Amino acid sequence: MNTIITGLQWGDEGKGKIVDYLTESADVVVRGQGGNNAGHTVIANGTKYVLHLLPSGILWDNKINVIGNGVVCDPIGLVEEIARIESQGIAITPDKLLISDRSHVVFPFHKELDAAREASLGDQKIGTTKRGIGPTYSDKINRCGLRMADLLDREFTTQQVTRRVSEANEVLSRHGLTTFQAAEVIEQVYTAFERLRPHITNTIPVLHKAWKANKNLLFEGAQGTLLDIDYGTYPFVTSSNTTAGGSCTGTGLPPTAIQAVIGVCKAYTTRVGSGPFPTGDEPLSEYLHGLGREFGATTGRPRGCGWLDTVLLRFACMVNGVTGLAVTNLDGLDAYATLQICTSYEIDGVIHELPPADRSAWERAKPVYESLPGWQSDTTACTSYEALPAQAKAYLKRLSELCDAPLAFVGVGPDRIQTLVVP
Ligand code: IMP
Repeated sequence: MNTIITGLQWGDEGKGKIVDYLTESADVVVRGQGGNNAGHTVIANGTKYVLHLLPSGILWDNKINVIGNGVVCDPIGLVEEIARIESQGIAITPDKLLISDRSHVVFPFHKELDAAREASLGDQKIGTTKRGIGPTYSDKINRCGLRMADLLDREFTTQQVTRRVSEANEVLSRHGLTTFQAAEVIEQVYTAFERLRPHITNTIPVLHKAWKANKNLLFEGAQGTLLDIDYGTYPFVTSSNTTAGGSCTGTGLPPTAIQAVIGVCKAYTTRVGSGPFPTGDEPLSEYLHGLGREFGATTGRPRGCGWLDTVLLRFACMVNGVTGLAVTNLDGLDAYATLQICTSYEIDGVIHELPPADRSAWERAKPVYESLPGWQSDTTACTSYEALPAQAKAYLKRLSELCDAPLAFVGVGPDRIQTLVVP
């Protein structure tokens, strides 16, 4: 069984926890898009691990973890992350972590170009993670990027980096930002690259071999559908296809290799960065932040919080072909007396059941809500779906109906054991 796990909202849905849960029966865990803009927090056996580029399967023994060709890989950031996870007692060996030789490299100047672009946008800024994601994907599409395979040839890489650094410096000096010396960039990147070199390989035949041998492959999506470059709230999106299709183009495995798509959403909605958020709700944000919830794993930024938005979820289930919903953070709503679910948007007097493409229409979208009674009891100790309070099950059932997708999992806390399977 090969399964894609994909985010249905604006990222941070708790995909890492579902991936971690499903990894038990997986042989291979693979990332196909994004970079270290992602931040997955996984709590296993009481220890908290924060992962950015490493697939969540890294926390297990005897699983192969693949950083696929569609991922943009920051060698310096990845080496730091490897060192941090190794210091928590997890060995990261070349048989356990494979990095695609086609993966594009994030250079230090990409991060600075990301900051420069954000500064130039002023109050229109995207609110990026400043990890250089957009500029690296721009170079990829503009056919001037460098891939891991290119780094094997240091002379060629030096020539290319020298040219890119001088182009980047022109932009950076215009913005009064730090400029770069090509030789220093090369030195820094190669210091990191030496740690990664044994992991770099052509991952495509490795994945095909595993598929043909009937191994279980798990595709770990990063970010979420509303951050997808095509389906998201453009331009307030990331620079890759975060939806299920991106898992195929980003790994070299075809759509015919996939049997299941698990769509992960929170029991409410959150978003970081700029852009439209029709169901955003200040009291709910304050409430959840007061519980110590909803601070970003990558940047520590407090996330904006809002009511469950099934306009977005319905669309996300469509474009991802979701075969099972995983609803996380149900326990975040434990104490609320009355819950709202957005069922449609009213835009200029017209009801919309799917999100608009037009950015100005987003600004005018008014959520139409349905109220449901809360359960007002602690769900964190529930060990089965049946044990959930009746109102919680009614809330989940309504969510599933409105999205036209079956429920598969419910999360009631951060630990591995707090993932309930829906019968
Ligand atoms: P970038 O991916 O750093 O270019 O940021 C573009 C947008 O995607 C910003 O709104 C970020 O906050 C958002 N973003 C990127 N990665 C994540 C993530 O893992 N979770 C939530 N939001 C993200």
